[in-house]
This record gives sequence, structure tokens and C-alpha cells, in this order.
Amino acid sequence: MKIEKLLTEAQIQARVEEMAQEISRDFPQTNKAGKPPVALILANGAIFFAADLLRKLRFETEIQVVRVASYAGTQSNGAPEIVGGISPEKFRGRNVLVIDDVLDTGHTLAKVREHLCAAGAEDVRICVLLDKPSRRVVPGQADYVGFSIDDVFVVGYGLDLDDAWRTLPYVGIVKE
Ligand code: IMP
Ligand code: MG
Repeated sequence: MKIEKLLTEAQIQARVEEMAQEISRDFPQTNKAGKPPVALILANGAIFFAADLLRKLRFETEIQVVRVASYAGTQSNGAPEIVGGISPEKFRGRNVLVIDDVLDTGHTLAKVREHLCAAGAEDVRICVLLDKPSRRVVPGQADYVGFSIDDVFVVGYGLDLDDAWRTLPYVGIVKE
């Protein structure tokens, strides 16, 4: 299998810095009760992106992590599962920044948003490193997007193919 570079480490880091500046300007930094935002990291894919982004924000966040699983190989089964669920006591009344690796069909983020709203979150915003608008099945957009890309399957910087390639520092296209 060959990996063709799509985004270099330098391009990713520069864009993450820009996104951090935008979010720092834009995101409500306390809720009505004066509490800081909660960053909800969708693992495993978003762990590297979230670690880089959150350290560049000009405000503090509380961190929560959930695992979402729906992919086998390069195919989504269309029914993502939030392992362990989203417990309301952590999110009620809070401003939540959801961080994911890639917005693809939209099933995952629609489900996460629905659970956060049911949990009583005050403000929910979505931040993704990558967006594949041509793949959307469930309508919906992210509030913050790193890079918009074509319909290609990519790995690296957290993204995997059956759990391989996550630790590459760059993002590349899988060539069979
Ligand atoms: P969605 O529910 O179809 O929007 O899929 C989102 C999830 O699918 C992401 O969080 C990724 O884990 C996975 N995914 C989608 N496209 C890719 C890709 O190109 N490479 C690796 N994982 C992907
Ligand atoms: Mg994945």
C-alpha cells in the first residue's frame, strides 16, 4: 500500500494555528454561569488534532473524550455508536466545542449534536480538521473547518485505515 502526501506537517500546523486564532476570537468563553467551555474530543481520530488545537487556544477548556466507531476499512456503516454515551451532568448548560478529524457523511456529527442537545448543552459548535462536502448524506456543516478535500480516503495525523497509519505527522491519500 502506498500513501501519497496530501497535507504536509507544516501546512497542518499553520492551519491549526489559524483555526485556534479564529476560535479564540469567536467562541463564547464562559457560559451563563461563568463556567469555561467543554472540548469534546471524538476519539480516536481527533486526538492529535485536538491536542495541537487546544494548546493553541487563548482560553481554557475542560476536556471530555468519547469514542465513536462506525468505519470498517474505507466504508462507513452509517450508524455510528457513541461508546459509553454522553452523560448529561458533564454538558448541561455548557458551551461545547466538538472536535473531530473529518466530516464525511455527516452521520457522526449529527448524532453527537443530537446527544449534546438532549443533554442540555447551551451552545454546540463543531470543529473538524477535514471536510469532504461531496460525501454528505446527512445535511450539516461544521463551524470551523481546517481543509476542505475531495472524495478521497486519507490517513495520518490521527486518521486511520483499520487502526493503521494514525501516527504519521502528515495527511496522505491511501493508494491501493
Ligand atoms: P461520518 O459519520 O461519515 O461523517 O464519518 C466521520 C468519521 O468517519 C470520522 O470521524 C472518521 O473517523 C471516519 N472517516 C471518514 N473519512 C475518513 C477518511 O478519509 N480516513 C479515515 N477516517 C475517515
Ligand atoms: Mg476512524
